[in-house]
Amino acid sequence: MTMRVRLMGQVIHLHMPSIQWIIKALFVGVLLFFITNYLSKTTDRGPLKTESKRSEDSLFRPLDVATNQKPPVAGSGSHMSAMEAGNVKTRLLMQVQRDILRNQKRPPDDTYNINVTLSDNTSMDREIPDTRPEVCRTFSYDVDKLPAATVVIPFYNEALSMLLRTIHSILWRSPDKLLAKIILVDDASTREYLKEPLDRYVRLLPKVELIRNEHREGLIRSRMRGYRLATSKVVLFQDAHTECNVGWLEPLLDDLMKHPQSVIQPFVDGVDRLTLEFAAPPTYYRGAFSWDLRYTWLRLPEHEQIRSIETGQPFFTPTVVGCALAVRKDYFDHIGWFDEGLNVWGGENIELGFRTWMCGGRVVTITCSRVGHVFKEFPYQFDGNKEEIVQKNLIRVAETWMDGWKKYFYPDNPGVRLQAARAERGRTEVARRTD
Ligand SMILES: *[C@@H]1O[C@H](CO)[C@@H](O)[C@H](O)[C@H]1NC(C)=O
Ligand SMILES: *[C@@H]1O[C@H](CO)[C@@H](O)[C@H](O)[C@H]1NC(C)=O
Repeated sequence: MTMRVRLMGQVIHLHMPSIQWIIKALFVGVLLFFITNYLSKTTDRGPLKTESKRSEDSLFRPLDVATNQKPPVAGSGSHMSAMEAGNVKTRLLMQVQRDILRNQKRPPDDTYNINVTLSDNTSMDREIPDTRPEVCRTFSYDVDKLPAATVVIPFYNEALSMLLRTIHSILWRSPDKLLAKIILVDDASTREYLKEPLDRYVRLLPKVELIRNEHREGLIRSRMRGYRLATSKVVLFQDAHTECNVGWLEPLLDDLMKHPQSVIQPFVDGVDRLTLEFAAPPTYYRGAFSWDLRYTWLRLPEHEQIRSIETGQPFFTPTVVGCALAVRKDYFDHIGWFDEGLNVWGGENIELGFRTWMCGGRVVTITCSRVGHVFKEFPYQFDGNKEEIVQKNLIRVAETWMDGWKKYFYPDNPGVRLQAARAERGRTEVARRTD
């Protein structure tokens, strides 16, 4: 069989076998193209791979850090920070700050388990290293398209300078447009310096509102009290001894716009409780739990850490750490908030993780958003017996969410079975709310 083809005025007779050869040649050509393309890509990545293989040390060394410029800036270039936009009377602010810190009658450092002497003597606007992976600094966000956030900060007898540094870091490093409000919830603190002196200070700051519980409510109910006052689309819950790093807010808001059904947390850096040194952990961890439902950190597999550092993308986490987390208000209303049947502190982060995952949401850590946290043995002070309160909370969590897996919780906890029956009521309450 032959085929006649007209090519540039010439008539060419093509025999069928030659067509087959042309197709074969084309096929081989395409194949070669893909092979060379693939090879060139892998050789491009070669040096990187060998470098990261060289030794674990070089892979897991602390990230390169650059020091923030002073004054600290909000992440998105030309946008003014809430502090800058707030027309703060700087000189008066500094004066009041010195005044209230100098005159506070506070207990010695060891009752806080933090070096408060050093904290009081360290600038509220101090520079901290930019701990984000390199790639995060190349991302830009359209501030006009992101929703605003309210930050809810409960506190109980917190060291004053720790609390003020938390607030300052938010005001300095959040674009004005994206920060609706900071709501401080005083959980009936007894220290004098947190009363009138704090009122006086807060009046000088933009966007900060202070409400006080009449009685101790605990962390969870205090957070919910602040939450109910928030009118912005996004709400963040944060501890009163944290420090937000440059560009911390935008990636959180951006992720919540893309994935509304999420409970997200910034990547938590460490602030040393004795030296106040701000540093990224040398390896990446995700929030998890052990079978006794205590919070624990799980090291991220090497390939996932590399991916996070190279791409700046979030990584999944079974549960939230709790010292800082962000949700959309519409979603949080939908899944039923924190379980207010949990007392004071403990188990709420595990509970929220279980619930979010089981109700079709996702829990992630946002690699490019960095918040430092002072790790103390117990982040929140208790009135009653700590162990008993926490244990009761955990039983409630297990009874509500663990179904057949409960048997792994109880053998680890001899002596808690007796209390289990009491949690039964909580189970039906929460289950009804999340139906
Ligand atoms: C607190 O910091 C000061 C100043 O750096 C230091 O002299 C002191 O030893 C620290 N206290 C503790 C308990 O580490
Ligand atoms: C407080 O800071 C000043 C300078 O910043 C320093 O001279 C002084 O020694 C510090 N005091 C303490 C107790 O660390």
